[in-house]
Amino acid sequence: MITIDNPPVNALGPGVPEGISAALDRAEQEPSVSAIVMIGAGRTFVAGADIKQLEEQAHGRGPGAPNLHALLKKIEDCGKPVVMAIHGTALGGGLELAMAGHYRVARPDAQAGQPEVNLGIIPGAEGSQRLPRLVGVAAAVDMCVSGKPINAAEGLQLGLFDKLVEGDLLTGAVAFAREIAAKGSPHPKTRERNEKLGTLESNALVLAAGREQARKTRRNMTAPLAVIDAIEAAVTMPFEEGCKREREIIQQCLASYQSRALIHAFFAERAAARIPGISKDTRTYKIRKAAVIGAGTMGGGIAMACANAGIPVLIIDAEQAALDRGLATVGKNYESSVKKGRFSQETMEQRLALIQPRLTYNGFEEVDLIIEAVFENMALKKQVFAGIDKIAKADCILATNTSTLDIDEIAAATFRPHMVIGTHFFSPAHVMRLLEIVRGTATSKEVVATTLALAKQLRKVGVVVGNCRGFVGNRMMLPYMREAQLLVEEGATPAQVDRALYDFGMAMGIFAVDDMGGLDLAWRVRQEYKHLEKPGVRVPLVLEQLFRMGRLGQKTGAGWYRYDESRKPISDPEVESLIETTAKQAAIPRRTIRDEEIIERCIDVMINEGARILDEGHAQRAGDIDTIYLTGYGFPAYRGGPMWYADTVGLKKIYDRILEFQRQHGEWWEPAPLLKRLAEEGGTFAGFDASREAIMVGP
Ligand code: CAA
Repeated sequence: MITIDNPPVNALGPGVPEGISAALDRAEQEPSVSAIVMIGAGRTFVAGADIKQLEEQAHGRGPGAPNLHALLKKIEDCGKPVVMAIHGTALGGGLELAMAGHYRVARPDAQAGQPEVNLGIIPGAEGSQRLPRLVGVAAAVDMCVSGKPINAAEGLQLGLFDKLVEGDLLTGAVAFAREIAAKGSPHPKTRERNEKLGTLESNALVLAAGREQARKTRRNMTAPLAVIDAIEAAVTMPFEEGCKREREIIQQCLASYQSRALIHAFFAERAAARIPGISKDTRTYKIRKAAVIGAGTMGGGIAMACANAGIPVLIIDAEQAALDRGLATVGKNYESSVKKGRFSQETMEQRLALIQPRLTYNGFEEVDLIIEAVFENMALKKQVFAGIDKIAKADCILATNTSTLDIDEIAAATFRPHMVIGTHFFSPAHVMRLLEIVRGTATSKEVVATTLALAKQLRKVGVVVGNCRGFVGNRMMLPYMREAQLLVEEGATPAQVDRALYDFGMAMGIFAVDDMGGLDLAWRVRQEYKHLEKPGVRVPLVLEQLFRMGRLGQKTGAGWYRYDESRKPISDPEVESLIETTAKQAAIPRRTIRDEEIIERCIDVMINEGARILDEGHAQRAGDIDTIYLTGYGFPAYRGGPMWYADTVGLKKIYDRILEFQRQHGEWWEPAPLLKRLAEEGGTFAGFDASREAIMVGP
């Protein structure tokens, strides 16, 4: 039995391949050994190559990840059968290691996948060559392009696993190994199995469909197309040559800006959970039962997120009709997931049973967490908090789902400000991964730690931010939206701005986003920020007019665009002429605007605000801002987030452009002091994070 023991996830870091190789030699030489079982210690089989090593390689530092060819060949050529026993997640290099074994057994809850494209690379340890030999070309393309793991049952059906083991994995794997050893050799070598490699004609279709899928689902990304090239090598070349081709392709991928950005995104997401002063030993409260106030879109979505994580949740609204409407939407959402095959009818019923409607606070005295999700209005929120403070048990956390309001002011309405925290969910709350966790002045570290753990339990990414207007995400969104509106007044159209942003990689254009959120909301937010408007600083003019015309976006069938039943934005000549007339009346000169200027102004203004937030300490790291934008605002992951993107463009270049925009457009474009300093020093936001991290960790 060979146990791979490299916590936390048994990555193939320095020493691990060497250890496996040495253990294999011993097992092969030892006469009393008739079969070998390889298993992972702790929570998982091997979760992949060591991404730290890949990061170094991508940045041209250090030797990078080792070439595993010799090890995998040694396993496959071993004279004794090698059985890989898989639990947890066999991912990337972990699955590649497993595929070099002669047999694979797995626990029914195990998962396996090739997620390398999520890091901007392709499998680098012959996965692109062995996977199609085990599961067939179409399934291999699908797994490698999507990067999504498959479950054990699918793995068994596809031929990746030979057996599923109920009960103790090691006992089952050893029994399987004894059986196999008794049968005698030969034992199957994956590299020699060609029966699933398809024909020239069938592969042409599968590969073309895969490339189509890659272009559509992983827009602008290079690795998903590159992995298909590697799989093509598996079906057109002998194994050894295919492996060489795979190595060439992964080297190209590792040299790309996309892999550096995606690896940054991977570590930034995990770093966000590290908060100075909060450690694994910080006490957390157990969230056994929760309650949500407000059965609107947000409240319903938050209740679903809780139920999906197995947390029973009460949901309250003032009126029976509102409660019925909210629950009907929840039911519809679940039914649509069942129809799409995401989970079974039985799962849906279990989840629905966890959501208990209420018209009164009956039962609220028992819950461990209350999340308020009423209308965004300070007076109302304060009234709600004063009320629940009287009912909730002393150690119940009171959370507010606000996107802009002051947490300290809300907390002051209670006698337990240390138990009050902001949980800014993103719509739809049961789908979107981001949870902005807003720490008030009085919020205790135990409450912050519990909310971070809750985010993980809800399968979300929690990012702790400071209590400033709009927090991090919306605070940066506001200047972004504003700049887009100024650009159309100067001569662009909403469709041109949106297309430029979409081509840059944003999930949606900003005007389409505005229409989706509702122009009434945009208008209300604008009013809240009115005090920031200074004389001489231009204010966009068209939004107000659209709002007054009742063009509130998708919900009224018209906003910046027109909408039909398909809800696709259609350019509207009426809006374009309104923009032109408005610009004329305000004596704004119109000109042709290049896409490049659109990107620079929209993204640079966001970066400038991000630098201010960072300097003020409302975000702990530039990486946290990136995580917020990648998980909640549709920023393209392959650009690493706005702050990482700024580093790749060069802070000096961004700073110079901002100075230029300041000359052209005035005070609004004043460069953030941190951006100025870093640009002048030749620094980067990543470097700023590293120096801050060093202070946080200490010598
Ligand atoms: N290398 C290095 N560190 C890794 C790692 C890896 N492959 N996978 C996870 N970690 C680290 C994380 O950074 C985190 O560290 P900190 O606690 O210091 O922040 C720790 O392990 C735990 O990770 P998570 O917080 O993500 O734990 P989780 O339980 O939520 O998820 C997981 C576990 C599903 C394995 C998830 O970590 C994951 O998806 N990891 C990446 C898997 C992957 O992409 N593998 C392919 C690597 S590339 C490759 O293998 C190339 C090749 O072909 C040779």
